[in-house]
Amino acid sequence: MMGNSFKSTSCLCKLLLLLLFTLSGTQGVGLGINYGQIANNLPSPSQVAVLLKSINISRVKLYDADPDVLSAFAGSEVEFIIGLGNEYLENMTDQNNAQSWIQQHVQPYVGRTKIICIVVGNEVFNANDTRLMGYLLPAMQSVYMSLSNLGLQKQVMVSTAHSLNILETSYPPSSGAFRPDLSSYIQPLLNFHSQISAPFLINAYPFFAYKGSPGDVPLEYVLFQSKKVMTDPNSNLSYDNMLYAQIDAVYSAIKAMGHADIEVRISETGWPSKGDSDEAGATPQNAALYNGNLLKRIEQRQGTPARPTVPIDIHVFALFNENLKPGPTSERNYGLYYPNRSQVYSIGLQEGHLPQFNVSSRSRMRVPSFIGSMLAATWLFFS
Ligand SMILES: *[C@@H]1O[C@H](CO)[C@@H](O)[C@H](O)[C@H]1NC(C)=O
Ligand SMILES: *[C@@H]1O[C@H](CO)[C@@H](O)[C@H](O)[C@H]1NC(C)=O
Ligand SMILES: *[C@@H]1O[C@H](CO)[C@@H](O)[C@H](O)[C@H]1NC(C)=O
Ligand SMILES: *[C@@H]1O[C@H](CO)[C@@H](O)[C@H](O)[C@H]1NC(C)=O
Ligand SMILES: *[C@@H]1O[C@H](CO)[C@@H](O)[C@H](O)[C@H]1NC(C)=O
Ligand SMILES: *[C@@H]1O[C@H](CO)[C@@H](O)[C@H](O)[C@H]1NC(C)=O
Repeated sequence: MMGNSFKSTSCLCKLLLLLLFTLSGTQGVGLGINYGQIANNLPSPSQVAVLLKSINISRVKLYDADPDVLSAFAGSEVEFIIGLGNEYLENMTDQNNAQSWIQQHVQPYVGRTKIICIVVGNEVFNANDTRLMGYLLPAMQSVYMSLSNLGLQKQVMVSTAHSLNILETSYPPSSGAFRPDLSSYIQPLLNFHSQISAPFLINAYPFFAYKGSPGDVPLEYVLFQSKKVMTDPNSNLSYDNMLYAQIDAVYSAIKAMGHADIEVRISETGWPSKGDSDEAGATPQNAALYNGNLLKRIEQRQGTPARPTVPIDIHVFALFNENLKPGPTSERNYGLYYPNRSQVYSIGLQEGHLPQFNVSSRSRMRVPSFIGSMLAATWLFFS
C-alpha cells in the first residue's frame, strides 16, 4: 500500500503523508460480516439493510449472488463479496457460461450495489474431490476473463476461500507449508493470484483448535486475552493470539512457493455462542470476547507480526444464527444476532457501535480445521 515506500525528508511531509495514508486507508476497513442464509426465519434483505446501517457495518460477504439482497442494498455504501458455490465450478470452466452468469448475476447490480469480489468456490481443497480441485483454477480464470471482457475486472476481484486444512504445517508460523498433495493445484493458483493481484482468502477458526484440545490450548490465547506471548524460534516474532499465528503461517506457506506478493485476508472467522456438551468454549461470554477483542484490533488497524503494516482484513462469521445448518449445535449459533434482530450478546465496545437494534419489527458447513501438530507444539514454546 501507499505510504510505506516513501522516504520523505521533511517532517511536515511525513505528517501529510500519514494523514493521506490514514484517510485513504479508511476505505475497506472496519468489520466485515458474513451474511449466511441457511435458515427459514431470517428478516427480509431490506430489514437487514436497515440493521447493518444501524450498526455501521459496511462490508458484507454472501455465499451466493442473491438478487434480493443485491437489490435491497442498491445505492448503499456497503461493499459486497459474492459467491459462486462449488456446484457451479465445472460449468464455469466454460467461459461462455461464466460470462452469461456474470451478465445475469453481476452486471445488472454492479452499477448501484458495490460488488467488489467474486469468491469462486468455497474450501474446494477440503472436499477430497480431485475433479472439483481441477476445476477451480480454470473456473477462476474464466470468471476473470469474462469480467475483463465486460470491463469489470478493475472493480470486481476474483478469488476463492480456503480452509486452514490446506496447511500441512502451521507451527511455528515461519514454518507454514501447504499440504504436499495440493502443491500441483496451489502453485498455479498462486501464480494466478499474483498475476491478477488478488488476495488469498482463508477461513480460520481458533475455536476449532480450542474445542479440539481445551486442555492444551489456553483459552486466553485464542480469545486475544493472553498476557504471555509465543515466540517463533526461527523469526523471533512474538504472537499473543492464535489467529495471527495462523495468518502468518499462510504467508509463510505462500512464500515457500515463491510468492511474497500476495495478501492474506480472512474470509471467515468467528466463535459460537452455544454448542453441544462436547464443544468446549462455545458460550456467549467467549463469543463476545473473541469478536469484541477482534473488533478492537481491527479498529487499531493492527497487522500481524510478519506483516505489521498490512491491517488485518476480516469478515466475521456470522450475522445471524442459522437454524437450518446441519452439524453440531455450534454450527447454528455463530450469529451476532438472532433472526428477530436482537443481539445474541454485546460486543461491548464504545456506545453506539453495535447498538441493540429496536425490535419493531445460506452458508455452508465448516469442517473443523484442527491442526494437531501445530497445537501440540504451540504450548511448548510458551515459557
Ligand atoms: C463507522 O465505520 C467507519 C469505518 O468503518 C468509521 O470510520 C466510523 O467511525 C464508524 N462510525 C461509528 C459511529 O462507529
Ligand atoms: C451453466 O451456466 C449457464 C450460464 O449461467 C446456465 O445457463 C446453465 O444452466 C448452467 N448449466 C448447469 C448444468 O448448471
Ligand atoms: C479421500 O479420498 C481418498 C481417495 O479416494 C480416500 O482414500 C480417502 O479415504 C478420502 N479421505 C476422506 C477424508 O474422505
Ligand atoms: C533471534 O534471536 C536470537 C537471540 O537473540 C539471535 O541469536 C538470532 O539471530 C535471532 N534470529 C533472527 C532471525 O532474528
Ligand atoms: C429474540 O430471540 C431470542 C432467541 O429466540 C429470544 O431469546 C429473545 O427474547 C427474542 N427477543 C425479542 C425481543 O423477541
Ligand atoms: C430505538 O428506539 C428508541 C425509542 O423509540 C429511539 O430513541 C432510538 O433512536 C431507536 N434506535 C434505533 C437504532 O432505531
